[in-house]
Amino acid sequence: IGPDVIDIRKLYAQTGMFTYDPGFLSTASCQSTITYIDGDKGELLYRGYPIEQLATQCDFLETCHLLLYGELPDEKAKDEFTRRVTLHTMVNEQMQFFLRGFRRDAHPMAVMTGLVGALSAFYHDSTDINNPEHREISAIRLIAKMPTLVAMAYKYATGQPYIYPKNSLSYTANFMRMMFATPCEEYEPNDVLVRALDRIFILHADHEQNASTSTVRLCGSSGTNPFAAIAAGVACLWGPAHGGANEAALNMLHDIQRQGGVDKIGEFIKQVKDKNSGIKLMGFGHRVYKNYDPRAKLMQETCREVLAELGLENDPLFKLAMALEKIALEDEYFVSRKLYPNVDFYSGIVQRAIGIPVSLFTAIFALARTVGWIAQLNEMIADPEYKIGRPRQLYSGSVKRDVRPIGQR
Ligand code: ACO
Repeated sequence: IGPDVIDIRKLYAQTGMFTYDPGFLSTASCQSTITYIDGDKGELLYRGYPIEQLATQCDFLETCHLLLYGELPDEKAKDEFTRRVTLHTMVNEQMQFFLRGFRRDAHPMAVMTGLVGALSAFYHDSTDINNPEHREISAIRLIAKMPTLVAMAYKYATGQPYIYPKNSLSYTANFMRMMFATPCEEYEPNDVLVRALDRIFILHADHEQNASTSTVRLCGSSGTNPFAAIAAGVACLWGPAHGGANEAALNMLHDIQRQGGVDKIGEFIKQVKDKNSGIKLMGFGHRVYKNYDPRAKLMQETCREVLAELGLENDPLFKLAMALEKIALEDEYFVSRKLYPNVDFYSGIVQRAIGIPVSLFTAIFALARTVGWIAQLNEMIADPEYKIGRPRQLYSGSVKRDVRPIGQR
């Protein structure tokens, strides 16, 4: 296909040979026009636009339009897209009863996996993934309903009444209100905080063929319905090596803080370098970025803005994170392995400052990534050559043998 890429399908057709590549370190599973990452330069583009420009000049719904339809909207298209998404922010009242079946202390990602999967039980009119109209309305419903579902999961966990969407607010301000308002007290969205959360959504909106996106593609390739495929993505995202890293990174910072803060960083780094400890520097390292993750830079700036707005410039966790980053980036272990902060290193500090509980971080990530999952799913299904995903394996089990009667085994 290109100078460094072999089309293995041709090789397979000619020779029957296939590749052995656990963890897909060197296998492209698809062609895509959505997101480009240059891991060596630390560059990220959505549909050709640098993430830095999108994060500072566009809002999340414009970014959703770009990912879904390939172009940034003009004002008219933006108004129309916003109107369509806004029309679908409510969820069926029956969802409340479904939610009630969960323990209140259930992890929000367990709840979200269930809630998103359950949407297919409510929208029988749009479960044919091969029908472009079904995919389109499912996309709008999912983008519109994810904030409502995440906020409902939060309210349920805290024993508070649900707050219904207020469609006169922007997408992100509406989400924050559903999270933080109560029937006793209205929530006045703060522009700086709304903008910060909106930026978090933009930075997490897509990241090409990561584990959860590949899961969504594989799941969708069987012809299952769009809601089921996105629920599979939510489940995959939960893991600490992927979306769960933001929660793990903040917990790690809290642990170091409890043990003595900046003075204990050296000791902590020593543990990370000891392979037997099983401890990783969470929020560091990436399969593709072998340079600074551009999202981490934007996240660090956002962190400063939010903390300044809240009068928390001396936030001890932010100081600790910056000191930890500095020490790690000067340490031979991290330098030689090209381990840099990823998007999760600072996003937890921003979310915590906004008032989002740590246990909800990965659900916020799922909310933001939903559009990327859908865009990738649509791209796959719209390709006339798409086939069910079916990896091969290298069998290393027993040779053929006969079953003996149970008394002789
Ligand atoms: N802390 C300490 N050592 C690390 C870390 C880390 N965070 N990340 C990688 N390494 C080490 C590995 O132990 C390995 O060392 P070795 O060569 O001596 O065996 C080397 O660096 C290469 O790492 P791999 O695990 O081979 O890299 P891989 O591409 O498989 O993993 C991953 C990438 C999963 C992100 C890894 O860096 C990691 O676990 N990081 C911490 C979790 C995290 O922050 N995840 C979020 C990723 S971004 C996202 O999903 C939004």
